[in-house]
Amino acid sequence: MTSPQKRLVELPDSHHGAVVLGDPGYHRDPAEAFAWLRRTYGPVAPVLLVGQVPAWLVLGHRELTQVTSDPALFARNVGRWRLREQIPADWPVWPMVGGGPAGESLLYTEGAEHRQRAGAVSRALAGIDPVEFRAQCESHAEDLAESFAHSGRAELMAHYALLLPVMVMGWALGVPTAEHQDLVGAFTDQLAGGDRALAGHQHIRRTMQALVRRVRERPGADVASRLAADPIGLSDEQLCQDLIVTIVAGHQTTAYWMGNAVHRMLTDRRHTDSFVRGRLAVSQALREVLWDDTPTQVFAGRWTSRPAHLGQVIIPAGDLVLLGLAAANTDPHLRPEPGAGLRGSRAYLSYSHGPHSCPDPARDLAETIVTAGIEVLLDRLPDLHLACPPEQVRWQPSVWMRGLESLPVNFTPTPPTARYAGGTPWI
Ligand code: HEM
Repeated sequence: MTSPQKRLVELPDSHHGAVVLGDPGYHRDPAEAFAWLRRTYGPVAPVLLVGQVPAWLVLGHRELTQVTSDPALFARNVGRWRLREQIPADWPVWPMVGGGPAGESLLYTEGAEHRQRAGAVSRALAGIDPVEFRAQCESHAEDLAESFAHSGRAELMAHYALLLPVMVMGWALGVPTAEHQDLVGAFTDQLAGGDRALAGHQHIRRTMQALVRRVRERPGADVASRLAADPIGLSDEQLCQDLIVTIVAGHQTTAYWMGNAVHRMLTDRRHTDSFVRGRLAVSQALREVLWDDTPTQVFAGRWTSRPAHLGQVIIPAGDLVLLGLAAANTDPHLRPEPGAGLRGSRAYLSYSHGPHSCPDPARDLAETIVTAGIEVLLDRLPDLHLACPPEQVRWQPSVWMRGLESLPVNFTPTPPTARYAGGTPWI
C-alpha cells in the first residue's frame, strides 16, 4: 500500500513547498485552507495529493469557468497524464481520477463520444415522470422517518440522508424493490471504505449487470430501458458503466447536500426560518447551501492537452488540474461580501460547468430528493434538534466531498401512523 508520506514522483520546481491537500488543517476548515491558498498563490494554486503527487487547484470562479468550458484544452481522459506510468497501481486516488473500474464510463470519454453518451443519459433521466418521482421520494422518506419517529432520536446521515437517494434512484433506474435493501447495504459498505468496500462495489456492479440483462429481454418504463433503447446503441458493458455512474454520482452528492442543509437548519437560525416558511423558501435555502456549503468540494479532474495559460500560471501539457468547486463559489471577486446579492442565483459551480457538468435532469432529480427529504422530516419531526453541541458534529475527512460523518438528532417521539406497516426493514 502506498504510504501517504512517500514521494512517488519527482517534483517540478513549481511544486516545491506546495501544501498537501487533505492535511489536518484542510479537514478542520477547508474554507480557510482555500482562502489561504488564494492569498498565497492567486486563483490557481500548485498543490500535492497523497504521495506528493503534483496537481493544480483552480480556486477562481472565472478560471474554473474557463477550464470547464474548454474540454479540448482541459481534457477529461486520464490517459493524457504525463505522470500516469510513474504512479503505482495501488495509489489510493486512482478511483477519483478515472484510473479505476469506472474508467470505461461516460465520465472519462471526450469529444463526440462524450456528447453522445452524456446526451443519452440526459434523455433517459429526463424521461422520469416528475410527479411520480416526487411521490416516490415522499413515500420512501416517510417510511424512513417512520422507522425512527417512535424512538425520539436518530442518526440522520446513516439512517436517512444516505439511504433516500439510493432508494429512489434504484426505483428510477428500474432496480426491483426486492433488491433495494442489498443495494443500500452495498453503497454503505463502499462508502465506509473498509474491508467490505470492494465487495460493495462488486455488488453494485452485479446489480447493474442483472438490470442490463433484464431490460435487454423485457424493457420497461425506466431509465435503464430508455438508455438501452437509445439510438446511440450502447454495448452491454457501456450501459452497465453508465448506469453505475448515474446511481453513484447521485448518491453521496445528494445525501451530503441534504445533510449539510439539515445541519444548517439546526445550527443557523436564519436557515431554520427559511426552511420552515414553505416550499419556495426551501429551494432557495437549498441553493444557499450549494453556494456556501457545497457537497462537491474538489473534483478530479482535467488534463492539459497542451501548455495552458490560466490565471497567473502557465500549466505544462499533460498536468492534472483539479476543479476547486467550493473555493470558486466563495471567490471574493464574485462575492466581495459573502452571500450578498446571490440568493436566487444559480451561478454556483457545485455541479461544475460546461459539457461535462452534471446533466440538467440530474440536478432537478437531486433537488426533488433533497426537498422532499427535508419537507418530510419537518412535517414528521417538527421539533427536531441537534443531539450534541454543534462543535462536536464530525465532518468526513475527505479532500473531495464536504459531508457529515453523522448527524445525531433528538425530537419528541410520536407513535407510528396508520400508513406505516413496519417497512424499511434494513434500519
Ligand atoms: C440524482 C442525483 C444526481 C445524478 C443522477 C447525477 C448524475 C450525474 C452524471 C450522469 C454525471 C456525469 C456527466 C458527464 O460526465 O457528462 C454527473 C457529473 C457531476 N455531478 Fe451529478 N448527479 C446527481 C447529483 C449531483 C449533485 C447533488 C451534485 C452537487 C451538488 C452533483 C455534481 C456533479 C459534478 C461536480 C459532476 C462532474 C462534472 C465535471 O466533470 O465537470 N451531482 N452527475
